Formats: sequence, C-alpha cells, structure tokens
Amino acid sequence: MAFLKISVTLSILTALLAAYAKHAMPTAVWDAHVIIVGDYVRSMVSLTSTSALVVSDPSEEEEDPSPSPLSKYELCPSELSAYTGADPDLPILLSVGGYIFDVTAGAKFYGPKGPYKIFAGCACSRALSIGSMDPADRNDNLEGVSKEAVEGQVKFYTDKYELVGKLKKDC
Ligand code: HEM
Repeated sequence: MAFLKISVTLSILTALLAAYAKHAMPTAVWDAHVIIVGDYVRSMVSLTSTSALVVSDPSEEEEDPSPSPLSKYELCPSELSAYTGADPDLPILLSVGGYIFDVTAGAKFYGPKGPYKIFAGCACSRALSIGSMDPADRNDNLEGVSKEAVEGQVKFYTDKYELVGKLKKDC
C-alpha cells in the first residue's frame, strides 16, 4: 500500500516538474505544490517508518525461547556413546575439552563409514589433542597433554561445528 502511495507521489512530482519546465505553472503555484507534496512525502515516510517501529517494538517481541547451547545435551560418556551416526534419528556428537559438539555436518568423517568414526560418540580429548587414532587414547585423560593442544581442538570444533552441550562428570 505504501509502495502504491509513493508511486503516485512520484508520478505527481514528475507531472509537476514537467508542467513547471514548460512554464505552464506560475512560480508561486509551484512553491505551494512543493510544500504540499513535501508534506505528503514526509507523512508517507513517517508512516512507513512507524510501521517499521511497530514491527520491531521490543514490548511486542516474544522472548527468545531457545536455551543456552550448552544445555541442549548434558551427557555422561556412556550416554554420549549412542550418538555415533549408527542411529539415523540421532545426531553425531563428540566431546572434547568437556564440551559436546554436533558433528553431523561432518558425517563423511565421523559417520559409520568415515575415516574418523572412532571419535563419534566419544569423549576423546586425549586422542584429538595428541593426534592419535589408537583406541587406548579415546578418553579424556589429559596426563602429559598440553592445555594449548586441548584448547586448539576446542577452537577447531567451535569454529566448524555447533556447540550443543557439555559432558557430565562423575557418572
Ligand atoms: C596419514 C595421516 C593422516 C592423513 C593423511 C590425514 C588426512 C586428513 C585430511 C585430508 C583431512 C581434511 C579432510 C577434509 O577437510 O576434507 C583430515 C581431517 C581430520 N583429521 Fe586427519 N589425517 C591423518 C591423520 C590423522 C590422525 C592421526 C588423526 C587423529 C586425531 C586425524 C584426525 C583428523 C580429524 C579429527 C580431522 C577433522 C575432520 C573434520 O573436519 O571434522 N587425522 N585429515
């Protein structure tokens, strides 16, 4: 509707300009029309911006119902082991540095046929941080592992995948 009104306004302006250019309109009449059309355009602009304000009125916005990404999954290592991609109804998750990431987007790496399937459903800060495919390193034992190496892995997964939760301790 606003678009239609603006189009009409522009048509009127064009006609006025054409008439003025042909000296068909006295200057005083032109000045009056400029004021009238100017007021009309201003009312249109305030009308459109008012609607924009109404749309973005914070009092009318619903509160964001999405919880913190860290609370989507809170799993014990034994529960995490179900998220390997073997069950197509579940995402593929892995944990590093105590965080849980959804690596479903990397199913070609972590899915049942992927080269890194041993990391799926696994709390394996150790293996990922020292770059080991040895099943004995599929755990969170950080003895002899540098903090920087673990942080580097957390950064890699944070940048590439969705952080969805944290690993539960003492279970
Ligand atoms: C001969 C040794 C290896 C080769 C040639 C190799 C090759 C690769 C390549 C090419 C990628 C990138 C794939 C892509 O972005 O399309 C990759 C990613 C990866 N590699 Fe290796 N890799 C080797 C050893 C290892 C080892 C020992 C680990 C053990 C931790 C490992 C863990 C990973 C992981 C976790 C990724 C990231 C997958 C992702 O993007 O989510 N790789 N590797």
